[in-house]
Amino acid sequence: MQKFELNLKETRHTIPLWVGTDLWPTLRQYLGAHYQGRTLFLISDSRVGSLYRRTVLENLSEFFPEEHFILFPEGEASKSREQLARLQDMLLEHKAGRDTLLLALGGGVSGDLVGFLAATLHRGVDLIHLPTSLLAQVDSSIGGKVGINHPVGKNLIGAFYQPRAIFTDIRFLDTLAEEEYLNGLGEVIKYAAILDGELWTWLEKEREKILQRDSAILEKIVARCVELKIAVVEKDEKESRYRSILNFGHTVGHAIEKLSHYEVKHGFAVAAGMKIAARLSNQLLGLPRSWVNRLDQLLEAYRLNRTNLADFSLDQLWNVLLTDKKSRRQHPHFTLLKAPQQAELFYPVQKEELERALSAF
Ligand code: GLY
Repeated sequence: MQKFELNLKETRHTIPLWVGTDLWPTLRQYLGAHYQGRTLFLISDSRVGSLYRRTVLENLSEFFPEEHFILFPEGEASKSREQLARLQDMLLEHKAGRDTLLLALGGGVSGDLVGFLAATLHRGVDLIHLPTSLLAQVDSSIGGKVGINHPVGKNLIGAFYQPRAIFTDIRFLDTLAEEEYLNGLGEVIKYAAILDGELWTWLEKEREKILQRDSAILEKIVARCVELKIAVVEKDEKESRYRSILNFGHTVGHAIEKLSHYEVKHGFAVAAGMKIAARLSNQLLGLPRSWVNRLDQLLEAYRLNRTNLADFSLDQLWNVLLTDKKSRRQHPHFTLLKAPQQAELFYPVQKEELERALSAF
C-alpha cells in the first residue's frame, strides 16, 4: 500500500490518497478517526453496488445503516439533473444534515454525480471517493472535477469540489469489464506520452502482464498515474493553463464522443484523438514520425485502435471543435507535443492543418 498527498495551496487542503489492495481496514480506520458519530451514506451505481454490497456492509456496517446504501442506475445517463434531484430528495428524506459524509463508490459516473451531489447539498458536505474503474482511479477521482451532463453536452453543469480522501483499491479492477479496463488504459497511455518516458517503457515492455491485470504491475502503474495527476493538479488546480496538458488527445476525442452520441467510450475516443494530435505535432512542431509510429503501435497493442476516423468528415469534426469551450477566435486549441513528454499548450490549429493530419494515416 502506498499513501500520497494532494496539497492544494489555495485552500490549504491536504487530501490523502491510498493506493493498494484490500484497503477496507485502512478505510475503516480513517472513518473511525474522522467520522465517528456522523451521518454517512454510500452511493453507488447498480452494477458496482450489487457486486460489492456484501463486502461494503461487512466492512462498514458500524458506520451506517443498510438504508444509507443507495443505488442509482448504471451508466452515463444517470449524470442527469433528474438523477441528481432524485438523490437529493432521498438524502433530505433521510434527514442528511450538514454533518453528512458521502462515499462515492464506482467509476467516473459515480464520482462525478455523487461529487456534484456533495458539492451542492447544504452548500457542500464531505465526500470520499472509492474509485472502482481504471479510468476513475488514474484520472477522474483526482482533481475535484465533478458534474452532470446537460442535453446540450457533457459535463456542462459542474464544479470543482475536492474530496476529503481517496481510497484507490486495485482489487476493484478484478471485476471490471474488459472494455472498461481498456478504456482506462487510454488515459494511462496519455500520461506516458505527455509526462513519463519510464511509464511509456513499462507499457511497451509489460503488455502481457498489464493485459492480464497482474496486480503487482497494476498497482505500480496506477500509483504512478496518481502521482502524475497529483503533480499536475497541485500546479494548477482550476485549469488556468498547465492542467490543460491532460487534454492531449481530448480535443478531437471529445468531438468523436459527441459525434458518436457517446457510443465511443472516452478512452477509445481519446486514443483516436491522440493519433491525430501526434500527427499535428509531427507536422507543426517536428515531433519525430518514428515516435508517432510507436504511439500507433502502443494503441494497437492495447486494442485501443477502434475508431474509424473515416466515419467522421472534416467538416463534422471541425464544427464540433469550434463549439468546444476551449476554442478561441474560431480556432480550436490543442495540447500538442514538440517531443515525447514535452507538451505545447493551447496550440491554435487551422482547418487545413487538421485536414492534413487526417490524411496522414
Ligand atoms: N481529466 C482531466 C482533468 O482532470 O483535468
